[in-house]
Amino acid sequence: MNTKVTVSNTYKSKDDLIILSDFDDFGWAASILTDSETTFLKNAAKREVSFVFLARETGSIVVQFLKENGTDSISREDARIAGNEILSHISQYKIKTVTLVNKHPINRSLDFLEGMVLGNYQFLKYFSDKGEKINSLKEIKVDKSAGSRSAIIQLKHVLEATCKARDLINEPHSFLSAEQMSKEIQSVGKTCGFSVKVFDKKKIEALKMGGIIAVNLGSENPPRFNILEYRPKKAKNKKPIVLVGKGIVYDTGGLSLKPTTNSMDFMKSDMGGAATVVGTMMAVALNKLPVHIVALIPSTDNRPGKNAYAPGDVITMYDGSTVEVLNTDAEGRLVLADALHYAKKYKPELVIDFATLTGSAARALDREAMCFMGNADKGIKDKIVKSGHDVYERLVEFPLWREYGDQLKSNIADLKNLGGPNAGMITAGKFLEHFTDYPWLHFDIAGSAYLKTADSYRTKEGTGVGVRLMFDFLKNY
Ligand code: BES
Ligand code: ZN
Ligand code: ZN
Repeated sequence: MNTKVTVSNTYKSKDDLIILSDFDDFGWAASILTDSETTFLKNAAKREVSFVFLARETGSIVVQFLKENGTDSISREDARIAGNEILSHISQYKIKTVTLVNKHPINRSLDFLEGMVLGNYQFLKYFSDKGEKINSLKEIKVDKSAGSRSAIIQLKHVLEATCKARDLINEPHSFLSAEQMSKEIQSVGKTCGFSVKVFDKKKIEALKMGGIIAVNLGSENPPRFNILEYRPKKAKNKKPIVLVGKGIVYDTGGLSLKPTTNSMDFMKSDMGGAATVVGTMMAVALNKLPVHIVALIPSTDNRPGKNAYAPGDVITMYDGSTVEVLNTDAEGRLVLADALHYAKKYKPELVIDFATLTGSAARALDREAMCFMGNADKGIKDKIVKSGHDVYERLVEFPLWREYGDQLKSNIADLKNLGGPNAGMITAGKFLEHFTDYPWLHFDIAGSAYLKTADSYRTKEGTGVGVRLMFDFLKNY
C-alpha cells in the first residue's frame, strides 16, 4: 500500500487539512476558518460545489461537502468516490501529507479514507522512471473526529490486504509462476500471522489430484497446492470456514487456445480468486478476528505445451469422478474441483470459493457485481449480500436448478467440463457443485477482478475485489 495511514490526536494550523462538511451546517467553521473564508465557503455551498480549496501561506484547507443519497450503501459509496476525486487536486498541489477531519453530522470519514487510499494505489514496479510517475500523497493522518483508533487501524489492515491482492494480480506471469505465488503467500503468512503449507508436484501426483495435474500437463512449470490456515485460540466457530481461490497464474486456454481477439492480454489476472483469498486471510489475521479459517489455492498456468491435455481426453479427478474434457479453456473448474474435494476433510461449516471462472459472468453483470450461487442457508446468503451493499462489492444470485446440470452429461464419462452456449456461469457452478457435500457458496468474479480502465477508486488492472466483502462478512459472522 503506497499511502501511510496514521492516527492523529491533534492537528495544527500548519497542517494541510481535508475537512468533511455538510452543505448547511457550518457551526465548526468559526474555530478553524477566517470570517471571509467562512463567507466564501457558505456561498460555494449554496452553489452546491463539491469541494472548496482554501489556499493559505502554510497549511491549506480542502473542505469536502458530502451529501446523503437515499441509502447508506449509496451514501457510503459516494463518500469513497469523493475520496478518490480529491486525489487529483491533492497531487496538483504536490501535497505529501494531509490530515482528515470530520465535521459532518453523519460520519462517512472512513469511507472517504478508503476511497483516497485505494485510489492512490499504484503498481510501479516495472517502470524505470518511478520517481516521475509516483503520486505526491504519501500519508493520511486521521483525526479522532473521523473514527476511533481501533476502527482506523482495522480499516488500514483491510486496505493493506486489498492492495496486496491488487499487487498479486498486477504481477505479470513472467514473474508470478505458481511456484513464485507460493513464495509470495508464504511471505504474507509470515508477516501477518497465518500458516502456509505448500504441496509440490510430487505430492499433488501422489494424491492423484487429476484436475490440477491435467491442466498443468502443457506447462513448463510445476503446479502448486497451497493450504493457508488461521486458527486463533478463541475461535467462535467449531468447524473451520474454508475459502478456495482459483490460482491459474496464466490462462492461454490451452490447446483450445483462447479464440477471442486480445482476450489473452489480461489473463495474468486468472489468479484473481487466489488473490481475494490471500487478501482475506491477511485482513483477518492482521485484525485477529476470532474465526478459524482455512484457504486452499490450487495453482498452475494453462498452456498448449507438447504434452498438454486435449479436448476429448477423459481425466480422473481427485474425488474419483471421471470428466470428459471438451474444452481445455474451461480449466478453472477442474483445479477448483480438486480443492473443493480436499475441503471435505475439514468437515467445514461453510466453504466459499472465488474464481475468475467464466466470460458469461462478466457479460451478465460487467464490472458492477459478482455472480454468486450455492446451497448455503438463506441467512448466510442474506448476510453476504448485505456486506456486498455495505462495501459496494455487490452480489447477484444465480440459480443452480437441476436442469442446468443436464448440460454436463457426457457420452463416455461421469460428466463433461463444458455446458451449452448460454448460462455458462451457472453450468460452471453446477460442475463445481458436484464436488461439494457441505454448505457452499461460489463467487464468479470474472467481471470485477480486473479492469482495463479505472472505475473511480478501483484503479485499473487488479481490483482486489472480494477482500473487503469477505472481511465485512467474517467480522459480522
Ligand atoms: N479464465 C477464463 C474466464 C474469464 C473470462 C476470466 C474473461 C476473466 C475474463 C476461464 O478459464 C475461461 O476461459 N472460461 C471459458 C469457459 C468456456 C470454455 C466453457 C469462458 O467463459 O469462455
Ligand atoms: Zn480458461
Ligand atoms: Zn481461466
